Amino acid sequence: MGFVSKYVALEGGDGSGKSTVAEALRAHLVEKGESVVVVREPGGTPLGEVVRGLLLDSEHLDDWAEVFLFAAQRAELAREVVSPALSAGSWVISDRSYYSSIAYQGRARGLGESRIREINEIGLAGVQPDHVFVLDVDPAAALARQDDPDRIGSEGVEFQASVRDAYLELGESDDKVIVLDASADVSTLVGQIMEHVG
Ligand code: TYD
Repeated sequence: MGFVSKYVALEGGDGSGKSTVAEALRAHLVEKGESVVVVREPGGTPLGEVVRGLLLDSEHLDDWAEVFLFAAQRAELAREVVSPALSAGSWVISDRSYYSSIAYQGRARGLGESRIREINEIGLAGVQPDHVFVLDVDPAAALARQDDPDRIGSEGVEFQASVRDAYLELGESDDKVIVLDASADVSTLVGQIMEHVG
């Protein structure tokens, strides 16, 4: 298996349990003797953590400013963390990726998938996940589980439903995207992910 197939992104609506699955997948791979780097978006570099604050804690942000801030932190993360880790033979598990921008900004904000792909692909320069797993949940149930939603997580159930539709459509149209039922237990989800990546 070449290094390019070790970059795994976890996606899903707010409250879909990505972080729990990321940790379980990390533990599973480490157990098998693999080296693993886990990153989250937005975040993962000093700039990324500052941008995360701007993105999630601001009261209001222009939609395109939001797109470019997500893309800016992602470009730096790709170059400074993801690419070196993959070159060193590590797995990279990413809690979100530019597929979040496609679903949230492209679809739910209505800015268009192709423009979001284009903007992000410039900054990523080819450092893109090989496998994208969408943890599919009922948006209303997922929202009910969130006790302190951030600015984007507070957009409401219709917004989350639109995010979900985007992910389901990506599951049909994009070969990298696999949709999993997030109500399965974590070890089942890890097993399903390993079947696809292995
Ligand atoms: P995250 O910290 O993963 O939150 P959660 O645990 O609630 O899923 O993501 C923060 C928020 O940012 C979340 O509402 C999704 C949103 N987001 C975008 O809108 N576009 C993006 O490109 C990314 C990476 C996240």
